[in-house]
Amino acid sequence: MEILRAGDYEGISRIAADLVERYVLNKPGCTIGFATGSSPFGVYRMLAERYRQGGISYQKVRGVQLDEYYGLEKEHKQSFYSYIKQNFMDKTDFQEEHFVAFDSLAVDIQKECRRYEKEVLSEGGVDLQILGVGDTGHIGFNEPDEAFSETAHCMKLEPETIEANARFFDSPDEVPGYAFTMGIGTIMKARKIILLVNGEGKADILKRVVCGRIGPRVPASVLRLHRDCTLIADDAALSLIDKTIQE
Ligand code: GLP
Repeated sequence: MEILRAGDYEGISRIAADLVERYVLNKPGCTIGFATGSSPFGVYRMLAERYRQGGISYQKVRGVQLDEYYGLEKEHKQSFYSYIKQNFMDKTDFQEEHFVAFDSLAVDIQKECRRYEKEVLSEGGVDLQILGVGDTGHIGFNEPDEAFSETAHCMKLEPETIEANARFFDSPDEVPGYAFTMGIGTIMKARKIILLVNGEGKADILKRVVCGRIGPRVPASVLRLHRDCTLIADDAALSLIDKTIQE
């Protein structure tokens, strides 16, 4: 795992936006896996700003949704679909029909997971996967478990995750208890992964991800086994790792 240090959130966003743009310029028809949450927000903002300035097009890019709340309709303002539409699709020339998303209202969950998996892996799978890490060490919504998941599935969310995501809803009761997610196996198949981590609040989990034991109890730790994963983190998130190195 390559580690790139940035001074702050803006720095992380700039490095990541550069990387995404470079990828798209080299391969205009690439497939990008889109994470949501506060970590990649700045990247999408910068990509949109730079798009407005000209010189790049996302018209041929294929997008894949990393995860989605179960039972929340697509149009709900807190659905991950709405997030990506608002922050990226509507602000660039990305074509909405090139986006592979979960049907969050699907009745047959297994069938929906199989459909999503097949679509994601078609056209060569994911080229560039953008990721954040949750407080529990989750990537996508792959919560700590006994074993790493392979393919798409619907996961029960940890109370800590529900609490962390409650800030986006009017009350914690409104946060869905289950969510669809791309599996760890499929994430690991992406050609390039960028993991964005910022702030002091993530320092503890980041230390476990980077220095702890690799295993499904800290799902993001598996990224250390990926052949081309770049962690982009700020000083605050790296502070406990720095301390360990100094000791
Ligand atoms: C969310 C999402 C993840 C995201 C993570 C961290 O619940 N399921 O895809 O990476 O938790 O979120 P944030 O970036 O807001 O800290």
